[in-house]
Amino acid sequence: MTDPVHSSESSRPPAHDAKNRFVIDREGLRFLWQYARPRRRTLALSFAVAVVLAGLSGLLAWSVKQIVQSLTQGGTAETIGLWVGVAMVAVVFNSGLEVLNRLMLTTLFARISQEIRIDLFREIQDNPIAFHTHIRTGELASLIGNDVQSAAAGVLETFSALWQHPATFLFLVGLMFYLNPWISLIALVLLPLLSACVTWISRRARDAQMSFMDNQSKLLGVMVESITNVRQVKAFGMEAQRTEQLASRGEYLIHYLRKAALLSSLVSPVTDIINGVAIGLMALLAYWQIQHGYTTTGAVAGCLMAAVGLKKPMKGLSQSVVELQRSFAAVRRITWALGKTDRRTGLPVVEGPVRQVTLENVSFSYDGRRSVLDGISLELRHGERVALIGASGAGKTTLLDLITGFYPCTSGRLLVDGKDLATLDVKSWRRQIGIVSQEPFLFDASIEENIQYGNPEATTEQVARAARRAGCDEMLARLSEGLKTRVGERGCRLSGGERKRVALARALVRPISIIVLDEATSELDPEMEESVLRVIDGLAPEMLVLNVSHRPSILRHCDRALVLEDGSVRETTPAEIQKSLEASGECIRAGGPHG
Ligand SMILES: Nc1ncnc2c1ncn2[C@@H]1O[C@H](COP(=O)(O)OP(=O)(O)OP(=O)(O)O)[C@@H](O)[C@H]1O
Ligand SMILES: [Mg+2]
Repeated sequence: MTDPVHSSESSRPPAHDAKNRFVIDREGLRFLWQYARPRRRTLALSFAVAVVLAGLSGLLAWSVKQIVQSLTQGGTAETIGLWVGVAMVAVVFNSGLEVLNRLMLTTLFARISQEIRIDLFREIQDNPIAFHTHIRTGELASLIGNDVQSAAAGVLETFSALWQHPATFLFLVGLMFYLNPWISLIALVLLPLLSACVTWISRRARDAQMSFMDNQSKLLGVMVESITNVRQVKAFGMEAQRTEQLASRGEYLIHYLRKAALLSSLVSPVTDIINGVAIGLMALLAYWQIQHGYTTTGAVAGCLMAAVGLKKPMKGLSQSVVELQRSFAAVRRITWALGKTDRRTGLPVVEGPVRQVTLENVSFSYDGRRSVLDGISLELRHGERVALIGASGAGKTTLLDLITGFYPCTSGRLLVDGKDLATLDVKSWRRQIGIVSQEPFLFDASIEENIQYGNPEATTEQVARAARRAGCDEMLARLSEGLKTRVGERGCRLSGGERKRVALARALVRPISIIVLDEATSELDPEMEESVLRVIDGLAPEMLVLNVSHRPSILRHCDRALVLEDGSVRETTPAEIQKSLEASGECIRAGGPHG
């Protein structure tokens, strides 16, 4: 079964890696060690418990040897009673310690998952916008949800389970050697065979696991996309098509899940068969040895008991190796999402107010082939009201994204008060900018909280003032709970224009040097637009206003007008644009004299 959407480009998480032929992935180990290191004491304790557990299983085997010896050689009732008692105590302690160990490891697992999750989430948020445009929300959710759990399980497998089983194994084999070296040789000879089988299974299991995780995240991608856009799905009657898409993704998921499950479940029977063959051979050898007087029945019973006990660590070890593959697969997907952020520290911070923003021969291309912006030189000064006009797709939003530092310039420089933005701390630059984007995002919280996101320190009074400045008054008066009204997921309980006004209030709630408005007033009715534009006029002396629109109404509220055409910016006068728009009928289409 081949997967049509399988892709190995670096803009997508890796799906599988045919090159890596090793069962232990060094990069993966390094990643897991970061999280294991601070917890090495707990891991060591769990290891110590495992050694005690191994000792107890040895004690059990030894007790069996003593009981059988007493039975066959006429031991006293007291001796038999004593060893039966020892065996019982060993069993009880064994169970108790196992419960304790499980609890300790589960807590550790939860803590490590939490740490990896936070690190990954923080990085994903910091990643450049370009990263986010290549991956669906659901896929990232799957990465943070499912892959993190698998990776965390790997820390326990690698730094605890993987060592516990050999410890028990060595203890039991040691005891067998002590009781009867020839019999124990059989166990050792069959070990490489088991190891070869497990290695073979593990490699295949990892590939299946990676494909499974890849499909799991794609499935979640389809699901989240459909649910968050349910309005569009319904509007175009695409319910059946989207369900079909989900179903076909699910088929791949089933395929890889079956493959991974088959491979993982192979480990158990393979171990059982090899262990069974070993016990059979041991029994035959023991019979021969007893016949010739080389050993005692008690020693053989003890040896066989230990050999039966070997099954658990052997199985555990094999299972751990296979489980570890799932973790390595998850780690690869996680590390793919990490390290994409510019982690330069100590860069100079931008302090307000910023007096001047200069674009020096700036070009930009999304794909490295087609230039959206081509050699733009421009100077924007504090206190100016600049209108940026251009046809749809001309690159207005792109230009704003460069100015706000969401994308780096492909060539040329962007200077903030004469300093290259590439050498400045971009977060501090963004704090100087109030952005009202083309599709503003509101969180599922109250209007007040949504405005406060712009400045967590803002008081209720400051929030109310920002709301007033953004023209929210009439809307707040209508809502029974006023500022406390919850807006619903992505602001779905507000109209498009209302969302824009809340976003404008959010931009105005903190001191800024520049306000960037991307079609911020386009969805408002002419009267409301006029009143918001008047608010924006009032802002101008305090800051640079960069207003992008395809509506000519903003031209009456600007000092400079720029036209973006064919990747270049042309400076013109508002009157000139108004005239050419009127000539082409654009003004009427865009809503009459008010815009
Ligand atoms: N993330 C992206 N990846 C690739 N191409 C993109 C991306 N975003 C935009 N583009 C392309 O870049 C060009 C400019 O887009 P942009 O969004 O800047 O236009 P705009 O002037 O804001 O248009 P509108 O008025 O419709 O908002 C368009 O041709 C668009 O297809
Ligand atoms: Mg745009």
